[in-house]
Formats: sequence, structure tokens, C-alpha cells
Amino acid sequence: MRLNPVLEKLTPYRAGPQMADIRRRYRLERVARLSANEVPWGPFPEVVDALKTALDGLNWYPDGGCSELRGFVAEHLGVSEDRLVFGNGSCELLMLLGQTFLGPGRHAVLPHPSFVMYRSIALAQGASFAAVPLKDLEYDLEAMLEAVRDDTSLLIICNPNNPTGAYLEPRVLRPFIAAVPEDTVIVLDEAYGEFVTSPTWEESARWTADHPNLVILRTFSKIYGLAGLRIGYGIADPQVVDALDKIRQPFNVDALAQIAALESLRHPERIEERRQKVAAERARLTLRLRDMGIACHPSQANFLLVDVTRLGIPGPEVAQALLERGILTRSGYAMDCPGWIRVTIGEVEEGDLFLAAMDDLRRVQAAPAEHLVNGLSAEALSPES
Ligand SMILES: Cc1ncc(COP(=O)(O)O)c(C=O)c1O
Repeated sequence: MRLNPVLEKLTPYRAGPQMADIRRRYRLERVARLSANEVPWGPFPEVVDALKTALDGLNWYPDGGCSELRGFVAEHLGVSEDRLVFGNGSCELLMLLGQTFLGPGRHAVLPHPSFVMYRSIALAQGASFAAVPLKDLEYDLEAMLEAVRDDTSLLIICNPNNPTGAYLEPRVLRPFIAAVPEDTVIVLDEAYGEFVTSPTWEESARWTADHPNLVILRTFSKIYGLAGLRIGYGIADPQVVDALDKIRQPFNVDALAQIAALESLRHPERIEERRQKVAAERARLTLRLRDMGIACHPSQANFLLVDVTRLGIPGPEVAQALLERGILTRSGYAMDCPGWIRVTIGEVEEGDLFLAAMDDLRRVQAAPAEHLVNGLSAEALSPES
């Protein structure tokens, strides 16, 4: 077998175990799933109804052009239909962008730490990359610009950033976009954009008209509660959309995903309600943690990066200790954020459970590590996202 040599640098995505396995292993009645930045709520009720009525038509291939959804999104965002591309989750679009713009002899500029997939798409294409460190957990845009070389064909910004929650305001982001050379494609990943409550927020879709090298990515996996269906979209110059269309599968977005996405967008009031709920819980957790002397990085997303260095147990063991208390979080040690854990904003009761567990850990006297239950660490149990 002659495997593609780039595969040597890649490791398969480690899917976390099923919740039932965790409950059994740790003898827990319930696990608060706060590790992968999903929302704790399912699809909107109208979406569930629309999906039920669509089940009978599953013998047919889906609409390969997502026409109805495309028309709705175009109108909703005030962009032309040829500026939209749909994918099997925004992850598929990231991979297609990697195939379209990267390859051996090409270079990418990525933020670090940020979403793990960015590094994989560069590695998978045999491209080199600069992982530009954040400065105090915030973007260092100057350093990112400096990292751009003649062969840099892709630069990625995640806004708000995963895992820090840091948000770049338009007044900072727009001059940066304008400063990036035109032959470097800028991917602005807005997977968590719907959670932003900053008054500075601006609809970025129209920026693509001024910047043919700008690609904006969005997903239905987060605020819409559709992570299980796999659908996301990109807004870009028609030339980029055309290129992605050439290499995507003809029926890359399944029929149910298209129906669910369209119905979701018809309910802006429900989106707003979730945004406010997440923001209120984000603020509550931040304040309560602060009262305990535990810091969080300011976040505009549906997760918080929480400092775990002041607890009574060593930082690398915190995610495991939380898991044993029924709370699944993401260890910062697995994301190159040592001393932190990332906690998704869930239901208020889940937040209370988390706060109580943190308070408990704060009071623990440093003790020898005995946190590897059944030989499995929290890092092994926590799905990457
Ligand atoms: C920054 C970022 N971009 C993209 C994605 C992937 O989203 P999707 O479910 O649309 O593939 C995630 C998922 O967690 C993410 O954190």
C-alpha cells in the first residue's frame, strides 16, 4: 500500500465515548455535557415538525444546489445567491478550502491556540503553516500579518475564537482584512458568531463584496441545535464558490439538513432568545467564578475558558476530577492552553453543578494523583471540538 505521505503527520479525530459509557464507567446518573460547545437545547419545535413531514421523501437524492435554502439565506443576508456555498458542516467547507488553496509548497497562517481542524487541513494538504501564538489569549493581528509570506495562500481567523471566546470587533478586524495581501484567502470562521452580544457586532456577510479574498464560514451546529445533522455555509466571492463547487460531492448536504436549516432561519425570535439565555448564563458563571477567586477569559461565545491554577489539585487533573463529579469539560492541556479548562455554557442547573464542583475542588487540599479512574483520563474521554 502506498499511503499518501502527508498522513504520517495526521492523527485520526478522537471521538469521545458515548454518554452512556461515561455514566456506566463513573456510576453517574447524569452527565452535564459541557465539552463540545453544543447548546443544551434541540432544534426549534417548528424544525422538528418540518423534519417529521420530510421523512417520507428520503428515497430521493437531495437538492444538490440547496436552492430553497440558498434563496432564503441570500435574501436574509443581502448577498447574491452565487456568493453562497453549503457544506456537510462547516468542517467540510474548511477541508474543501484546504484542498482548493493549499498543497505542497504553499503556506497557511493560523492562530494558536484555536480550532484543532485548522492545523489538520494544512497538514492534510502537505502545506507548511505558521501557528501564530495568541498574546494574553487575545489575537496578535500584527504578528499574524508579519507571518504572511509570498506563498501564504490561506489565513484563518476564528471569531469569536475557540477555545478562548475572544472576540475581534469590526473596527479592528476590517482594517486587518484590508491589510492582508489580495492573493491570500482569509477564512473568517464565525461558528460562534450568533452568540456575540457585543454592541459592536456587525453583519460581516457584505464585507465579501469589498474583499474577494474573504471567505466567511457559519454553521447550524451551534445556536440552532443542529450539530447532529451536519450543515454549514460559506459566503465568498463567486470565483471561490465556483472552485469549491468543483470539488465538493454533488449531494454533500442531506435533505433533512437543508429543511432544518431553512426552518431554523425562519425563527429569528428563537435565535435571539437563545443568544440572550447563553449570554445571561455566561455572565452569571463568570461572576460566580470570580467570587470564588477563579478567573475566566472574557468570552462572546457559548463557552468559557476557566483558569484552574488556583484549585487544590494540579491543573492537568481538573477535567478528570470534574468528570468524576458528572461534568464533562475540555481540558486546556489537550488544546495547548495549560492551566485552563474550556466549559460550554449549558443549562442553569448544569452551571450550578459546575460551580459547586469548582468550589469543591478549590477546597481540596493538594493530594497525590489518583484521578485516573479505570485507566481513562478526561482527555481521552473528551471529544475534540
Ligand atoms: C471554530 C469552529 N469552527 C467550525 C466548527 C465545526 O462546525 P461544524 O459542526 O459546522 O462542522 C467548530 C466545531 O466545534 C468550531 O469550533
